[in-house]
Amino acid sequence: PVLVVDFGAQYAQLIARRVREAKVYSEIVPHTSSVEQMLAKNPVAIILSGGPSSVYAEGAPFVDPALFEAGVPVFGICYGFQAMAKALGGTVEQTGLSEYGGTPVTVTRAGALLDGSPDEQTTWMSHGDAVHSAPDGFEVLATSAGSPVAAFENTARRLYGVQWHPEVKHSPLGQKALENFLYEGAGLAPDWTPGNVIADQVDAIRAQVGDARVICGLSGGVDSSVAAALVQKAVGDQLTCVFVDHGLLREGEAEQVEQDFVDATGVQLKVVDARARFLSALAGVSDPETKRKIIGREFIRVFEDAAREVVEDAGAHGDEVKFLVQGTLYPDVVESGGGEGAANIKSHHNVGGLPDDLQFSLVEPLRALFKDEVRAVGLELGVPEVIVWRQPFPGPGLGIRIVGEVTAERLEILRAADAIAREELTRAGLDREIWQCPVVLLGDVRSVGVQGDGRTYGHPIVLRPVSSEDAMTADWTRLPYDVLATISTRITNEVKDVNRVVLDVTSKPPGTIEWE
Ligand code: XMP
Repeated sequence: PVLVVDFGAQYAQLIARRVREAKVYSEIVPHTSSVEQMLAKNPVAIILSGGPSSVYAEGAPFVDPALFEAGVPVFGICYGFQAMAKALGGTVEQTGLSEYGGTPVTVTRAGALLDGSPDEQTTWMSHGDAVHSAPDGFEVLATSAGSPVAAFENTARRLYGVQWHPEVKHSPLGQKALENFLYEGAGLAPDWTPGNVIADQVDAIRAQVGDARVICGLSGGVDSSVAAALVQKAVGDQLTCVFVDHGLLREGEAEQVEQDFVDATGVQLKVVDARARFLSALAGVSDPETKRKIIGREFIRVFEDAAREVVEDAGAHGDEVKFLVQGTLYPDVVESGGGEGAANIKSHHNVGGLPDDLQFSLVEPLRALFKDEVRAVGLELGVPEVIVWRQPFPGPGLGIRIVGEVTAERLEILRAADAIAREELTRAGLDREIWQCPVVLLGDVRSVGVQGDGRTYGHPIVLRPVSSEDAMTADWTRLPYDVLATISTRITNEVKDVNRVVLDVTSKPPGTIEWE
């Protein structure tokens, strides 16, 4: 891999993604890794990320000069650039002129790194210190008002660096510089493609699983679907998927899993129809947290029972179910310190938790991938687009989108209203612009309306379209008025008991995305 050494700012993941966009595989390692640990991963190149420190600050992350002696091409970015300069005998000082944001840079000599760059370009910077003189043997490539040395290279030693952040979109030529480093500097080929990822994973899954049996919980979401499709491709009918229909899904979703996904992948599916069970468990309950707890608890029980049945069926044929598929993604791995997967499902929350007498080893074929890469792999595997591009949908489903008690009748109303909203948003081409659009039924609220000649006393439906990067914060999406008007007209005309549609114009914070 190309190793991206994380110096503690938020840039390392972005750099890793940009390297992968250049079709070269990358992994993130903490700056506390020793040079031996890094070299043990057989890196084909190393990128030192930016970071919040000054190289002179007490306790500033340190770069072992031995890293530059290993013969591995290195690209230093921002803090990584300064740390590299200092480690190799250049000077780093405070200029008194900090540069933040869009900063003009003059390219004095393109060299290999800035090949194809115009003499003047805008870059995105964020630094107080600057490199004042390059180490011996290095060519200075660029300068800016606050950075006497804004880029350098030593092509003989294959060492490169820039003061700016090539990984952010505000550095328009950043990706070009990164690719120059990867392709020219490090001599790497752009061959990390979804097809190759699939081929590698198929081999890895076969090696891990052998001829044992595997089980996977399907939710209908992207991650579990793509993970299942990959495992299916690798070991075919050794895999059994379990899908729990809790009756809180949106229109067409159960069919999407039961028909479209199975048709596309040929996966062996065990469907558990638990709709009645969930409804009776939720009867009379209005409190949001209580609803969530009940849904979570029932889900685990139903999944447990189904898993047990799969294990028993397999046992009857003399097989053992040893493995459980999880759709863990790379950001979860990096955030939890990059350790190897826990051997026991209990530490994982997306399936819930399984009883102690069911012990599985985990198969996590998406561990190395970011979400957009999972989508690309899914498309390549033939997973239906509606699943691959599905927006986030909460595990407790429509159960937390009915304010008040969840009943069969209310579910039917909400499902119909939600289907109309989704259909119109799709028709307007807005699916990839909005993060998600919860549709909420205010089950305990009624308002007066007039429909036809008569007075009505119906329920309001709330539209909650949001824009977000990661669901941690969000803004309400300014949907076009005509799209809102069509949705509102159709819902009030077509859905019984709904006589009013309202728009939620609250950002997060203070409002969460879901109403409950
Ligand atoms: P909130 O409402 O907390 O939601 O702003 C943030 C994101 O998480 C989703 N969400 C859930 N996803 N299980 C899930 O898998 C849950 O219990 C759950 N609750 C909220 C929500 O749809 C949004 O994308």
